[in-house]
Amino acid sequence: MCGIVGYVGSRQAQNVIIEGLEKLEYRGYDSSGIAVVHENSINTAKFKGRLSVLDNFTKENPITGNVGIGHTRWATHGAPSDINSHPHLNNKETIAVVHNGIIENYLTLKEELQSKGYQFVSETDTEVIAHIVDYYYEGDLMEAVFKAIKKLKGAYALGVIAKDSPGEMIAVRKESPLIVGLSEDGNYIASDVPAILNYTRDVYFLDNGEVVRLKPSGVEIFDFDKNPVDKEVHTVEWSVEAATKGGYEHFMLKEVYEQPQAIKETLTRRIDEDGYIKLDDIKLSAEDLNSINKIYIVACGTAYHAGKIGKLAIEKLAKIPVETDIASEFRYSDPFVDKNTLLILVSQSGETADTLAALREAKRKGARVLSITNVVGSSIARESDDVFYTWAGPEVAVASTKAYTTQLIAFYMVALNMAIKKGTITKELYFEVLDEMKTLSSKVESLLENVDAEKSIAERIKDKSSLFYLGRGADYQTALEGSLKLKEISYIFTEAFAAGELKHGTIALIEEGTPVVAIATQKDLVGKMISNIKEVKARGAYVYAIATEGETEIKKVADEVIYIPETLDILKPVLSVIPTQLIAYYTSLAKGIDVDKPRNLAKSVTVE
Ligand code: F6R
Repeated sequence: MCGIVGYVGSRQAQNVIIEGLEKLEYRGYDSSGIAVVHENSINTAKFKGRLSVLDNFTKENPITGNVGIGHTRWATHGAPSDINSHPHLNNKETIAVVHNGIIENYLTLKEELQSKGYQFVSETDTEVIAHIVDYYYEGDLMEAVFKAIKKLKGAYALGVIAKDSPGEMIAVRKESPLIVGLSEDGNYIASDVPAILNYTRDVYFLDNGEVVRLKPSGVEIFDFDKNPVDKEVHTVEWSVEAATKGGYEHFMLKEVYEQPQAIKETLTRRIDEDGYIKLDDIKLSAEDLNSINKIYIVACGTAYHAGKIGKLAIEKLAKIPVETDIASEFRYSDPFVDKNTLLILVSQSGETADTLAALREAKRKGARVLSITNVVGSSIARESDDVFYTWAGPEVAVASTKAYTTQLIAFYMVALNMAIKKGTITKELYFEVLDEMKTLSSKVESLLENVDAEKSIAERIKDKSSLFYLGRGADYQTALEGSLKLKEISYIFTEAFAAGELKHGTIALIEEGTPVVAIATQKDLVGKMISNIKEVKARGAYVYAIATEGETEIKKVADEVIYIPETLDILKPVLSVIPTQLIAYYTSLAKGIDVDKPRNLAKSVTVE
């Protein structure tokens, strides 16, 4: 899981590449490197550590040249080190390669190459690619790459340059994401759009099994059998500003504050003149829906938590039974899926390896696939039958926030759409829910106006070794998400429990001073939550509650209460998650953690 940038043109490649890599640090940040073709040699710099190490070095020791490739790494094969950093070179240092993905048969290839006399210097899988291209290179770089990829098994996005083919770069996409950018001043490759937005908005989203020859004057695209491919140029609408921090201290905070806008975008651009939801990329007819007897919602992490709320919404409104599963479990569980099953996948990035594998497994079994994703042209979007784009804009912080709330909006819209088509709800209820959804954006805004309570909670929990989240029904799902957010960016051990399960074991963990965040927004369940709060209080817990404005009983039992505005119970997860995001953010900040890049995590998990 790494970021790639490459450039051929009239500019200094180093500047374009380093600037692009900065935008891709969310994909990997344990090491980085650059290789540039210049005056009959390939000059390389690569270092373990954050991109700033490479940046500082190249500022002092510029690498000149107009054709180059760069990489920011998140280690999979071999620990982060200068040697293991990309680009990787052949022994003669005439060919350089950057790679995102995993070469599954690299050990076999390595042995074959070693028997032919090739020397390996790194522990990476990528290095085999440089040597295989060398083995086949006879003056035509593209031809050598075509031959090399026939030997590779696994997932890869590649950028390849050669000293003896100085005016070109070859790029390949198989499974791992890669785009091509086009401009008058030259052409680009990148793992993601923000890397090249300063230079161009015209891009090709490469498909699996495509090879590209980039020259300063233009690009040619081929399939793996060398047939030319005609592709449509997409114009990217995201602003450069949208892809950078926009004045906030961290991407996460910026993205938290972007939620009102993201929710509005996701919702209002899909309402037709008659006030109904219009889902252009979802072709499911009433007849299709009537033939579906089960829905599976499959995703990972935060996206999975959104799916759990999606289940509640679809079952309540569209009356279709829904199962949820974690993608890494689903794919190996021989799931009961057939042509009457609808698989709904949720993925911010649209590139998560396990989610993509679940998609392919379900399709193999005949299921129809609808995906909810934030990235247009992503692998999951392209392989799905129907797509709902969340239009949250780029999410850069590792901790997902605006993607989650827009995924909830997507689920409500899909559920309402299914329900009205199937006739399982009245028009009155349909518009009651939809009208209430339109108020969510401003309600989130009001929650973000004053964050003193969350800041003060963060100060008090920052040194605690554990914390528990409790909830029932939809609040339990929010508790799971709140707990994940806190653990990933504060490193505090937290767990979420269904409050009714407390007395079956968990309550043994509560002792004097244990912080507990109790989410109690669901009208029918507030009474039960009050009993659970009393139970943990009686054992010494300090309880921070999240409740609905106007509710008067919680404050009599909890130590502190954060109130969310009133809305329909089914929609409350959009509001109740906001304080949990802020508690996580301010705790991380108070602990001096790198909020946007917490340890051991990467934004886009494109390996199993
Ligand atoms: C947590 C987080 C992860 C992702 C998960 C799935 O804040 O961001 O749990 O939700 O890795 O990623 P996507 O949605 O890109 O498939």
